[in-house]
Amino acid sequence: MSFKFSDRLNSMSGTATREILKLTANPEIISFAGGLPATECLPVKEIEEITQEVLSGTKASNVLQYGITQGMFTLRELCTDYVKSFSINNAHPEEILIVSGGQQALDLACRVFLNKGDTILVEAPTYLAFLQIAAAYEINIIGVNSISDGLDTDDLEEKIIKYSPKLIYLVPTFSNPTGKTYPLGKRKKIAEITKKYNVIVLEDDPYSKLRFEGEEVPSIKSVGGDNIIFITSFSKIISPGLRIGLVCANAEIIRKMEICKQSADVHTSHLSQAIVKEFLSRNLIKNQIQKVRPIYKAKKEYMEQAMTKYMPKEFDFTHVEGGMFVWGEFDAPVDTQKLFPKAIEKKVAYVYGNVFYPDDSSHNTLRLNFSNATKEKIDQGIRALGELYQNEINKIKK
Ligand SMILES: Cc1ncc(COP(=O)(O)O)c(C=O)c1O
Repeated sequence: MSFKFSDRLNSMSGTATREILKLTANPEIISFAGGLPATECLPVKEIEEITQEVLSGTKASNVLQYGITQGMFTLRELCTDYVKSFSINNAHPEEILIVSGGQQALDLACRVFLNKGDTILVEAPTYLAFLQIAAAYEINIIGVNSISDGLDTDDLEEKIIKYSPKLIYLVPTFSNPTGKTYPLGKRKKIAEITKKYNVIVLEDDPYSKLRFEGEEVPSIKSVGGDNIIFITSFSKIISPGLRIGLVCANAEIIRKMEICKQSADVHTSHLSQAIVKEFLSRNLIKNQIQKVRPIYKAKKEYMEQAMTKYMPKEFDFTHVEGGMFVWGEFDAPVDTQKLFPKAIEKKVAYVYGNVFYPDDSSHNTLRLNFSNATKEKIDQGIRALGELYQNEINKIKK
């Protein structure tokens, strides 16, 4: 039978990370590819205890019933407090939407704002799965240059004037894929420019609580206006399997996203919402963040040491203060996508950098995840990559 799939699918492909993750399901492969939290950090015991309590109390049947689309009121109330830790003060529960992971928030925001043929901007490189979501809306995606401290705001203004985009998507703190964090001055500038030209900003921040060095930086939302939609998630701090994230935005935008969410999944898992509610009300989230930070710091340091020791001198990488990723770049025409099958032969995986660019450029780059592998695997994997790339550079130089 030949299936008549929608035209929409023509612009969508299985994202490279998903394809790579399929390969890395092989336990023999050392994977620097995914964005998985460290398995040893998942709060299994706490979640087991909370779940038992939630299901044995008098309100047990409530969490197994249907709920409201916007999310449990008590959880939204707690979230108005939680977003204060991103310097967003005075948020109201009507300005909060509970979503099934940050991923759903990105999709809903696109659904609410984008028509076929619209233009949007992203920092180039950007989160690969956002590029895939946006592609489903059959729009034009234009990259804005990235400089050492994040988005190039001169290029931003030029491209806003040139393309009249409806929206810009940014990951300003410990970016996926680069690990970069925008300083406060840049955040203020972005807030100012986007307000001036009436551009919606999707500020996606799943990583900022994973800071193990340096000072916290306020969110763009906290220094900007109603054009900024702030999205965060509990995936990288508590557990991605719970699928809980939140949106904080103007109540009119939240209402529109809620309407779209209703047709997508009615509401986010009530049991998961109840678990996160307890994490917040008992302040377990603070302990969890404190537990995770030193573990990620150590892993990042192992990876930096290994890269310094084994990678060719033509390789440079971002020095990150948190998150899960470092970004590597060769000052030589090393095509990391072409070399990927050879890396898999050596039983190491990463994500080649060109897939994070809307125009598939910059084949000399790659993203490495440091949160999931052990110290030994980090050393072993980076040594194997170092040999592979050094051989390639030797060949290029011949
Ligand atoms: C930048 C960014 N945004 C959103 C997500 C989606 O996360 P989740 O849907 O688990 O909250 C991820 C996950 O890797 C991410 O890296």
